[in-house]
Amino acid sequence: MFQKLSVFLVLVSVFLIRCDEDEDNNDIFVPTKEWQGVKKGQKIPKGLHVRINLETGQTEAKLLDDDDKLEDKTKALSAIPEDTRQEETPSQSPIPKSTLEEAVKNLKNDFSPEEFKKIKNQYRTYDDIKKSLNELNLTPKLDAEVIADLIKNHKEVASAEKFDKVELLKILEDLEFLAHQYDNAHEFVKQSGFGDIIYKNLNSSRVDVRKGTLKLMAALMQNNVPPKIHALETGAIAILLRLINLESDSGVKLRAVTALGALLRSFPAAQKKFIESGGLSVLSKFFDTDNIRVQIKVVTMVSDLLVEHQWAGNDDKMSKYYVSFDLTKRILEHEWCKKLNKLLLGLLITDKDDHDSIEKCLTAMHSLRVQCKDEYERELIISLRNRYEVLGAADADSSSSFFNVLKDLCDQILHHVHTSVKTEL
Ligand SMILES: *[C@@H]1O[C@H](CO)[C@@H](O)[C@H](O)[C@H]1NC(C)=O
Repeated sequence: MFQKLSVFLVLVSVFLIRCDEDEDNNDIFVPTKEWQGVKKGQKIPKGLHVRINLETGQTEAKLLDDDDKLEDKTKALSAIPEDTRQEETPSQSPIPKSTLEEAVKNLKNDFSPEEFKKIKNQYRTYDDIKKSLNELNLTPKLDAEVIADLIKNHKEVASAEKFDKVELLKILEDLEFLAHQYDNAHEFVKQSGFGDIIYKNLNSSRVDVRKGTLKLMAALMQNNVPPKIHALETGAIAILLRLINLESDSGVKLRAVTALGALLRSFPAAQKKFIESGGLSVLSKFFDTDNIRVQIKVVTMVSDLLVEHQWAGNDDKMSKYYVSFDLTKRILEHEWCKKLNKLLLGLLITDKDDHDSIEKCLTAMHSLRVQCKDEYERELIISLRNRYEVLGAADADSSSSFFNVLKDLCDQILHHVHTSVKTEL
């Protein structure tokens, strides 16, 4: 009887009534017999009918009708389905708290990711819903249970005799959807998700499964410290490097580099481990192939790290975490200047109008302009600069145009380049 989603949100709204027991907030909702909007922050006295409008997030409350029988008015909680049609109007009598809690528990067990997505599409945005739920202090538990269910489902699907790939990918996608929320990623770690799902799936013989898993992994670690620490401690760097090294599918390779980037970003301990594990040698191998997309991805990731180090070097508090290894020196040892030259040349030969990739390559060159200087090919950068000057001038709102940004990048690099070299492709 509590299967309807609209009921669920009204049920949880009832907990507002319980939340106001410690009273020092003097803004208390004054109920009448009509539905009235509850203002943000207002406390709701016990024993009222409360409902949340899922479309607007508006909470409304009113007094119970006189004929509502109450055994104990102060302890009673009520629930009213929100958009119930006339013919199925359920009893409006208050439901005892224990029954309510039981119902909410049951509901949550039935609350599949499918339904979760449905709410997302049906009602406003996920964030809005989370916010509404958050105000009721229910979200962490709710999400934790959804994650537990997904992990359980994953185990069942992965070990089933007849492997259902579509179902497994759906689970990974649902987890990824949840993983973007900080607390959820933490929860996933606590529930052994890395061991039970990530590392197992990365050994899967199926390309799609490896890809979906890497996407989930990157989402978990994006700007999120606890999962990063966990990943580092459980050997993620070696696992990702092995995958990058041995993987034959270039889509998987690309995703693995993305996951590695998410792990290394703003995390000097992981960067150190990456260097010590020979990570730069593994990444350097991409430059012996003609996979320009992965090369762009790699130089972008590395130049982000370089910029991070340069920033940290200027910050007293941060620098101590970064001095234990000289990233720039290690990168130069892998002939990064030559690699960047070659990549730029390759880009201009294959598609000189791929400005996004050229920008990424120039940005990477820019991050090493002081160190590489004369190793960069001057003539090439000059002609590129002139091309962007022309393109920028032809652009209507020119001063801030993308082409001018590219021209400025060239200028700043050229500032350090004095002599010409010849790069062989
Ligand atoms: C994945 O495969 C590697 C190499 O064969 C192995 O060392 C590792 O234990 C496997 N991991 C899992 C979780 O099965």
